[in-house]
Amino acid sequence: MNFPKGFSWGTATAAHQVEGGNSNSDCWLLEHVTPTPFAEPSGDACDQYHRYREDIAMLAQLGFNSYRFSIEWARVEPAPGEFSAAALEHYRRVLAACHEHRIAPMVTLHHFTSPRWIAARGGWEAAPTADLFARYCERVARELGDLIASACTINELNSVQMLQTSGLIAPDEKIAGSRWRAAAARAAGVEPENFSAFPFCCRSICREVILSAHRQGAQALRAGRGKFPVGMTIAMEEIVAEPGGEALRDVALEAERPFLEAARADDFIGVQTYTRERFGANGRLGPAPGAELTLMGYEFRPQSLVAAIRRAAAAAPGIPIIVTESGIAATDDSRRVAFVQAALEGVLGCIRDGIEVRGYYYWSMLDNFEWIFGYRPTFGLIAVDRATQRRIVRPSAEYLGRIARANVLEAVGSAPDRNQALATN
Ligand code: BGC
Repeated sequence: MNFPKGFSWGTATAAHQVEGGNSNSDCWLLEHVTPTPFAEPSGDACDQYHRYREDIAMLAQLGFNSYRFSIEWARVEPAPGEFSAAALEHYRRVLAACHEHRIAPMVTLHHFTSPRWIAARGGWEAAPTADLFARYCERVARELGDLIASACTINELNSVQMLQTSGLIAPDEKIAGSRWRAAAARAAGVEPENFSAFPFCCRSICREVILSAHRQGAQALRAGRGKFPVGMTIAMEEIVAEPGGEALRDVALEAERPFLEAARADDFIGVQTYTRERFGANGRLGPAPGAELTLMGYEFRPQSLVAAIRRAAAAAPGIPIIVTESGIAATDDSRRVAFVQAALEGVLGCIRDGIEVRGYYYWSMLDNFEWIFGYRPTFGLIAVDRATQRRIVRPSAEYLGRIARANVLEAVGSAPDRNQALATN
């Protein structure tokens, strides 16, 4: 039940989902146009922009040794070529707070949001975005690299392909012609064909731009101050063919392949898994009949992580794996505990089979802004009172924190003093 020495135990967040007030981003713009694809605006989120010290101290106290968060491009480069010394200084303070608490900071340079001006120049459908992303990475590494423990370039850089395959976002034609895209373009003062926000971009166009941004961004991060591992993170569900669904399963696997191949040049692969995707002859089948569902409507299936880790390991042999996201949106916290335990059993199994898995980051530290779904789905190990911003530690946070501190998987129910807390939450 022991994890390897030096294993990273963390929680993950993204700037737009927790910081609050990310008003120079494309996402904020999309949240405020009519019609909008968002259920509600992000607003103050969890106000982590101001509360990071307390949040980081809380993680350390719980037993974690790492924290994955993102640096917000829209803050660091508010206008083309104009870098904000104050924003960079802010992230320097966040990084320093991590070190103060012996928390290794894993930073993500792009977690879904971009500056508005990038979206208004064609976003991830425009080739120059890759160079602009690399220039931003270069500046971050130059200013902050000495404090970074590890870096992910782009969060789920395959998500446009993945979300479209799974039907969660509309296909290219619908996105290109959508009313909210037109409304956002109007607000940004450009023609609809010039406005594109990640991950609502046309997949047929954005793939090469994103892959090039990753390659160039990684190179810029490696060339800067400090020496730290650099990788991408990939959205990887367990992909299953029910009878007749083999061809569609293969389409989904094929969509992922170029990204995993690109990861062969990296220092690690960040695997992010939530559930499984079942294909039948006529398309996606959705959750298996009778299956337990999470608040996202996904099948409760922590063991999907094993399939994803094995697929990544097979596609990029020898490249270490870090589980950069694994988690569940649930109202009953005991289901979160069960999910984490089962996911970690899977990780241990992979390690026993010789796959180098170096860390596990639970998504998410806090209940936060779940993109188009707003604040309804609660993924947090820590609940947030939206009126007061008070943090409420859930038993699952203590459970995973104890595992992190001991570096040993604890079976649910084996700490008798905790059983009551689990039952009463
Ligand atoms: C994303 C997160 C998101 C989570 C839960 C991942 O795809 O990286 O930003 O909140 O899934 O849906």
